[in-house]
Amino acid sequence: MKIAVVHGPNLNLLGQREPAIYGGATLAEVDRQLHTLAMELQVEVTCFQSNSEGALVDHVQGAAEAVDGFLVNAGAYTHTSVALRDALTGVGRPFVEVHLSNVYAREPFRHHSYLSDRAVGVVAGFGLESYLSGLRGLVVHLRQAAKHES
Ligand code: DQA
Repeated sequence: MKIAVVHGPNLNLLGQREPAIYGGATLAEVDRQLHTLAMELQVEVTCFQSNSEGALVDHVQGAAEAVDGFLVNAGAYTHTSVALRDALTGVGRPFVEVHLSNVYAREPFRHHSYLSDRAVGVVAGFGLESYLSGLRGLVVHLRQAAKHES
């Protein structure tokens, strides 16, 4: 089973960016822990980050055929991007939305997501653990779906 992890804008700054909100782990550390968990779960993950909306859309389109699902932290594009919503919906692969921070406890503009109603599930507010829980949840979902298909 293959999962594509997609990190949106400014997540390359993790570790130095507002650590009180986003925690002290760098993006490399997040990806390392995702790879470790993936090994335990016996799945493969690939990780991609971009600050550019078009690059994220291109990546989702390009990766979709080779993967079973997506784990997505779209950063600020969560709250703005119809294009990313359309890409994730259009490729027809299940995805889980994750956020390091509890977006519902922050500014009102962060309370709306263009992705949530299309996602299998949403995990927010647990820092790095949001990604790990999101990966676990996605793998359980994909395994259950595969069982129902066979
Ligand atoms: C974020 C929350 C977004 O509102 C913000 O723009 C981010 C990070 C999070 O992981 O908490 O860049 O997605």
